Amino acid sequence: MKYLITGGAGFIGSSLAKELIKNGHEVTVIDDLSMGKKENLDIERIHFVEGDIRNKELMEKLFNETQFDYVFLLAAIASVADSIQRPIETHEVNLDANLNILELIKEKQKNIRRVVFASSAAVYGDDPSLPKKENSQIKPLSPYAVDKFASEQFVLLYNDLYNVPGSAVRFFNVYGMNQNPQSPYSGVLSIITDRYKQKVAGENAIFNVFGDGKQERDFVFIDDVVQALILVSESKNSRGNVYNVGTGKATSLNKIISIYDDYFQSSLKINYLPTREGDIRYSYSNIDKLKSLGFTPKYSVENGIKLYLENEL
Ligand code: NAD
Ligand code: UD1
Repeated sequence: MKYLITGGAGFIGSSLAKELIKNGHEVTVIDDLSMGKKENLDIERIHFVEGDIRNKELMEKLFNETQFDYVFLLAAIASVADSIQRPIETHEVNLDANLNILELIKEKQKNIRRVVFASSAAVYGDDPSLPKKENSQIKPLSPYAVDKFASEQFVLLYNDLYNVPGSAVRFFNVYGMNQNPQSPYSGVLSIITDRYKQKVAGENAIFNVFGDGKQERDFVFIDDVVQALILVSESKNSRGNVYNVGTGKATSLNKIISIYDDYFQSSLKINYLPTREGDIRYSYSNIDKLKSLGFTPKYSVENGIKLYLENEL
């Protein structure tokens, strides 16, 4: 099968690409390398296009050249905080570019089997009802979340209106190998891991906790996420539907820090700072809908972190 992954040099996209190649598929990746890295990819076995999904000519060329079976839309400026600072630029990537791609697929990809869009638990905002179900209240608190919701709805609308087979997934907090810790808005586990690496290297490492550390997230390991993406793309029943992707369990940031301390048998220096603007206090998923497709998360947060650290250090 022929796959296109936008944002495929990033954390989740590169892990998906690896699995698809292992399964014998042909994979094309388009990525502008703003957050992703070429080193994340087996460049010999992937058709890599360095470019911006906002570039309409480039996207048109891509869809003229190849008839894809599956398209995964993962390219995004994935930072909530960045979207609050730069709503127009992030909107162009997180919504406009995806709409343009859907239009191109409608026009040029008549045999497409599925388009899968990577949405986010951020669409639920901080409404107190928990766990979050797919039909829970949508209450976006950032431009990022508004654009994620609009893009996923466009994918579902193109499914219903124009017969472009589409599904969407709402990721909770994904962690694992190849997550880039460079930005202060990178996933929190990639930042903690990076600080521990510094500590192990003998540097004076400090980890900033925004708030009291009692905030809770549904941390889901990358291998479970890849499993979910493939399942959703291949299932007949998932067409026209949106799915939470998480573990169904909540873990506080303080608990995460204690799991790391146990692993390393030493404590990281913690600096408590004020809560971040737009931060959600509690978030975790109900994954019954995904389970109905045959999904079972294989990794507890303890096992996932252990595997992550074994690979990363
Ligand atoms: P990531 O930043 O590692 O991957 C996104 C990729 O998109 C990067 O490689 C980046 O270089 C690329 N990109 C950004 N702008 C681009 C552009 N204009 N043109 C081409 N490529 C561009 O993030 P990730 O964690 O792998 O996330 C993948 C997707 O899942 C994103 O859409 C993100 O919003 C969504 N998501 C992630 C999480 C998470 O916990 N990691 C949670 C919810 C949703
Ligand atoms: C994350 C995703 C977002 C996704 C959402 C879905 C990232 C970067 N963001 O946002 O794309 O839509 O999940 O649920 O993956 N924190 C610290 N110190 C740090 C960094 C973070 O205390 O150095 C705190 C944050 O304030 C927050 C928690 O850790 O309370 C998690 O932060 P983060 O990993 O950025 O994820 P979300 O904000 O949940």
